[in-house]
Amino acid sequence: MERGTIYILGIETSCDDTSVAIVSDGAVLANFTTSQWIHEKFGGVVPEYASRFHVEAIAEMAEMALNAAKLNIDQIHAVAVTNGPGLMGSLLVGLSFAKGLCLSLGIPLIAINHLQAHAMSLFIEENAAFPLLCLTVSGGHTQLLLMRNACEIELLGQTLDDAAGEAFDKTGKLLGLPYPAGPWMDKYAALGTASFDFPLSQTPRFDYSFSGIKTSVLYFLKKQLAQSPEFIEKHRNDLCASIQQAIVRMLTAKLILAAEAFGVRNIGVAGGVSANSGLRRELNDLALQKGWKLFIPKMAYCTDNAAMIASLGYKKYLRGEFSNLETPALARFPVTEAKV
Ligand code: KG4
Ligand code: ZN
Repeated sequence: MERGTIYILGIETSCDDTSVAIVSDGAVLANFTTSQWIHEKFGGVVPEYASRFHVEAIAEMAEMALNAAKLNIDQIHAVAVTNGPGLMGSLLVGLSFAKGLCLSLGIPLIAINHLQAHAMSLFIEENAAFPLLCLTVSGGHTQLLLMRNACEIELLGQTLDDAAGEAFDKTGKLLGLPYPAGPWMDKYAALGTASFDFPLSQTPRFDYSFSGIKTSVLYFLKKQLAQSPEFIEKHRNDLCASIQQAIVRMLTAKLILAAEAFGVRNIGVAGGVSANSGLRRELNDLALQKGWKLFIPKMAYCTDNAAMIASLGYKKYLRGEFSNLETPALARFPVTEAKV
């Protein structure tokens, strides 16, 4: 018997983006994401505001996605939703909304690990190939995954402290840049030269650490500002270029190490930091030098989005991997047993 088209609705509310998407047999029909600007004035995500905003936005996002896909809610076969890792209050909004939909429509719930979904974004509109190294770099995570095939994913390393995006945001804050500072750092770095040396952290094998750069920038600025109060203003572009270069070098050093250790030439980058032009330039240079094939999803799928949640949900749907309605939200989520 021929199977009809399968529609999966995906929901993502793990941090400060409310996103709803619909995939049809794995192809993205709609993907609506709204970001929360309220956190800007606090210089970081305020969890209580984040969850309140999700409550206000989620139904509208779902309606927009259904309208764009020209579907009625009762045509949806399953709801895929991020249940971790992330901010507990934020996760609970998406998860409760998803459970409510599943209960009222009598359709299955599919709980999704946010980090596995980021890796999945490499396969949306991109023909990524295995074996693949996936570097996930965002405001909340920094991870290096070895994907041998769609089912075998190994966590090679991760950050021991701050995420790469946090490193941009926190050092940028020291320079007086608005939150999130990553895109500003990128913009000013393009106008400057990496003339200041910030030490690169030494970490075990494939792990990362970004708290050191934040501290060294802090002490460096303190010292310089004591001598010249206009130091940041005068050197903003060069400071940005230097910090960006240090972060990019730390990211690519482990990628090179892993690519060589496992003989992998397919390299994917996911997460908001993949927008960074310094990182992209460096990766393109490395790809030329080392014969890598690079996969970087378009921005809407790099930053937090529900299309990646629904896409992974579709794979799980085909395998009958459903979750029960008692599935909890998990602020932390082990990925070592990752299975996509
Ligand atoms: O993936 P994402 O949208 O959300 C999280 O899961 O965190 O990533 C947001 C992070 C922020 O830290 C932001 O500063 C950083 O990505 N980011 C950038 C750039 N664009 C966004 N960092 C450096 N350069 C950029 N162009
Ligand atoms: Zn994310």
